Amino acid sequence: MKNYFYITTPIYYVNDKPHIGHAYTTILADVLARYNRNIGRKTFFLTGLDEHGQKVQQAAEENGIDPKKHCDQMAPRFNELWKKLHISNDDFIRTTEERHQKVVKEFLQIVMDNGDIYEAEYEGLYSVSEERFITEKEAESGEFRDIKKLKEKNYFFKMSKYQQDLIEHIESNPNFIQPEHRKNEILGFLRQPLNDLCISRPKSRLSWGIELPFDSDYVTYVWFDALINYITAVGFKEDKDQFDSWWPVSYHLIGKDILTTHAVYWPTMLLSAGIQLPQSIFAHGWWLMGESKMSKSLGNVINPMDLIDDYGVDPVRYYLMREMVLGHDSSFTMESFIQRYNSDLANDFGNLLSRVSTLIKKNYDARIPEPGDYLESDIQIKMKGESLSSQIEILIADMRLNEAIEEIMQYIRTVNKYMEDNAPWKLVKEDKIAAGRVLYIAGEALRLSAVLLSPVMPHRTSILLDALSARDTDISWGKLIPGDILKDHEPLFPRIK
Ligand code: ME8
Ligand code: MG
Repeated sequence: MKNYFYITTPIYYVNDKPHIGHAYTTILADVLARYNRNIGRKTFFLTGLDEHGQKVQQAAEENGIDPKKHCDQMAPRFNELWKKLHISNDDFIRTTEERHQKVVKEFLQIVMDNGDIYEAEYEGLYSVSEERFITEKEAESGEFRDIKKLKEKNYFFKMSKYQQDLIEHIESNPNFIQPEHRKNEILGFLRQPLNDLCISRPKSRLSWGIELPFDSDYVTYVWFDALINYITAVGFKEDKDQFDSWWPVSYHLIGKDILTTHAVYWPTMLLSAGIQLPQSIFAHGWWLMGESKMSKSLGNVINPMDLIDDYGVDPVRYYLMREMVLGHDSSFTMESFIQRYNSDLANDFGNLLSRVSTLIKKNYDARIPEPGDYLESDIQIKMKGESLSSQIEILIADMRLNEAIEEIMQYIRTVNKYMEDNAPWKLVKEDKIAAGRVLYIAGEALRLSAVLLSPVMPHRTSILLDALSARDTDISWGKLIPGDILKDHEPLFPRIK
């Protein structure tokens, strides 16, 4: 397997405040980035902001400031949230940056030189909210706001020319669009003739964008600009060695709302420019609030800052990762959040740590006891622990994150059961050596579980590992060192009432 792992999130629109949906995709990317770093892959994790286009221009006008100033004011809100959520991104790209504008212009020129851009007069219905021309049928659907009739001369990208190549690529690369049902959706869409893509906006109508290198009366359509961020950040045309080591990207993570732009526009753009296609575009489902869609107008948008302030970062990360089956929608409710927290984190995980550390402190001067010779039930725990990490690797490669987490929690439950069966709190009175062995095994299983959960809960697992004096974050068995002293720690996951 290639030892380089490059993962991206969508670049979010800067006109909105970040909400739990944006936090979700970014945390998911973070978990995968941390996991891949842990298993020794060179990893590059990119997120950022989409700063051009009509929506941003409008939002700035409403605030009575120029668009760049508006972006500069909004950008820190995203960065602050990512810091709070312990997001380990390697870069944060903003499409107004010079490095990006330069690449967009170069890209446009390449596509132009290949004969894939032409000028044409177009008359049609235009949705201001969606920033694109729509069909009569779409206009009638009622899903589009601010519809105007427009007649304009514009530049078009010959997207239709690459339709057949794209279909063939999708069919011969089963992981290119994931999950499967999204791939089928795109293949269905591609059964109809593909239109060419209008990639310019006349400055008379919209000035906030990247100027076309071949016509200064126009700016670039915001999606044609935004998608290119994924190659800007890894040195396209700037640093060939850097670009060749990271590209093609391992995963573009996106929500299902932006599947067509990523799975049709972007690959045809790349085909035209002669650049390799992404290894995988993965579209996850929607977080719903209870039964309904999260939306500003419904006023049911969860602010991730509030949740973190009340319950801490890691429980929020844990819930989002454990609860969503990747590819499907998921419903966010406070009841299920609290239930998950109490059963998995407080009862199973937190309880194991407090049992082990309390008994070692009380009976072994806080020093990790010697394991001695393993009995049958000890070997079971060791073997299960040893096979866990390869099981996790398979599940994560398959994007079954919730199942990977569940496997680890199952293991923790097995270790709790082992503690009950062996009752070291009683055993210690009759046979201190045997009880020490049980506590070593349980402590080592806990260390392993914490290492495996660290991509999901980096902060609290590091407190736990520190409490166990675990100097080693290796996933092989037997890394706790007898004689090491346990440290005091705050209760990791106090029950929520
Ligand atoms: O579309 N559940 O930006 P955007 C899950 N700028 N994920 C959600 C969500 C929800 N309820 N709501 C939002 C754009 N998301 C463009 C992208 S990329 C070159 C340009 C997440 O601010 C999800 O990842 O509207 C979705 O795709 C993204 O936010 C849309 O963010
Ligand atoms: Mg959106």
